Amino acid sequence: MTEEKKVALVTGGSRGIGKACALELAKSGYDVVINYAGNDAAANETVGELKALGVEAEALKFNVADKDAAKEAVAKIFEKFGRIDVLVNNAGITRDGLAIRMSYENWEDVINTNLNSMFYVTKPVVEKMLKQKSGAVINMASVCGVYGNAGQLNYSSAKAGVIGFTKALAKEVASRGITVNAVAPGFIETDMTKDLKKDLIAEKIPLKKLGSAEDVAKLVRFLACEGKYITAQVIGVDGGLVI
Ligand code: NAI
Repeated sequence: MTEEKKVALVTGGSRGIGKACALELAKSGYDVVINYAGNDAAANETVGELKALGVEAEALKFNVADKDAAKEAVAKIFEKFGRIDVLVNNAGITRDGLAIRMSYENWEDVINTNLNSMFYVTKPVVEKMLKQKSGAVINMASVCGVYGNAGQLNYSSAKAGVIGFTKALAKEVASRGITVNAVAPGFIETDMTKDLKKDLIAEKIPLKKLGSAEDVAKLVRFLACEGKYITAQVIGVDGGLVI
């Protein structure tokens, strides 16, 4: 690895939005480590696609909601790649249901996976970025964290937390040249939204269609590579849903 080589870590990078982010960053020359939860075949396929773009790539299976596993995985990446320049905190799940029917388990799973994970993965990464005096952290929020969504109390709470996390961390690390931003996608066509009634949803979106994972990934690439004077922002990729 040459001295100038830059490295990105994308959590939940085996499919959907995370995979699209990993591919965009690889096209911009980043070596990419993707994290994933379960599907080895999908992760290996993504690593193959990344390597085909001429960069180094690796898949690391760990649960982002497990603080020890996250710390250990980040240490492994620093051992092998020497640095992390871009962290995309993308891994996330939904466990929908109305508040009064929501199980404690579904509440805790979503808060742990979508919010606590941000702290578990970011803490050991930012520790090193502070020494590097550079870096970009990009957190996947959601329109639900901005405007709230009935039937998604756990998810909306976690994503609103991601927005607070982004703004507070941005203020802590800005003086060391590190940017921290949140991306708030609307309805994006991935596994997460595969069971939704897309025609009905499209009607409610000003641009009259769902977005693609690539739509989100292009913004992530911009924030990572170009947006050096952009920090503490929450940027929607939602077809005009939140106006
Ligand atoms: P997806 O379900 O297609 O992919 C999720 C990824 O996260 C997978 O790679 C999965 O392995 C990983 N993951 C899940 N739990 C994990 C865990 N505990 N540890 C490690 N990895 C884990 O989802 P999609 O749509 O690509 O979503 C990506 C992010 O974008 C999520 O944070 C989601 O909340 C957010 N988002 C998605 C929207 C959509 O319409 N698809 C809208 C707004 C936000």
